[in-house]
Amino acid sequence: MSSATTNYDAFVKELDHLASQAASAEQLMTAIVTRLREALPHYNWVGFYMLDTQSSGGGPMLVLGPYVGTETPHKRIPLNQGICGAAVTAAQTLVVDDVNADPRYLACSLETKSEIVAPVFVKGVAVGELDIDSHLPAAFTADDRRLVEHCANLVGKFLEEKV
Ligand code: SME
Repeated sequence: MSSATTNYDAFVKELDHLASQAASAEQLMTAIVTRLREALPHYNWVGFYMLDTQSSGGGPMLVLGPYVGTETPHKRIPLNQGICGAAVTAAQTLVVDDVNADPRYLACSLETKSEIVAPVFVKGVAVGELDIDSHLPAAFTADDRRLVEHCANLVGKFLEEKV
């Protein structure tokens, strides 16, 4: 994220406020994807996938939740596929500077050049993720990583409080 165009701390405070007001995890995820897409022009596709461990056939699946951007053909992603599957399986944030050089990559838009995926943790277990695609190569800096992980953590904390 460019500190020239966005005041990081103020934006994080706004997101924290959204989380404190949210009536449901779905509403919080919708608010986060909407605000990230609005505030950060290089975030071209922003969406959550949540893990369905009860999925019948094909094992656990990442199921597309709230998102902003072009429609993706990948509405259900098995854990052994995509950068999305890899991030939840490894339980760590993945930043891919050049998606076309990564054999795991599942394409959503031909325009996508780079991607970041941060897991959502509930009590230390990855239960979903926040996935962001950019049309710019190597678009995601250390600040973006902090911001995206913060957003994923807001959802994780919200879900933890409901458990
Ligand atoms: N690129 C992701 C798939 C999700 S779509 O891009 C929205 C992946 O490789 O897992």
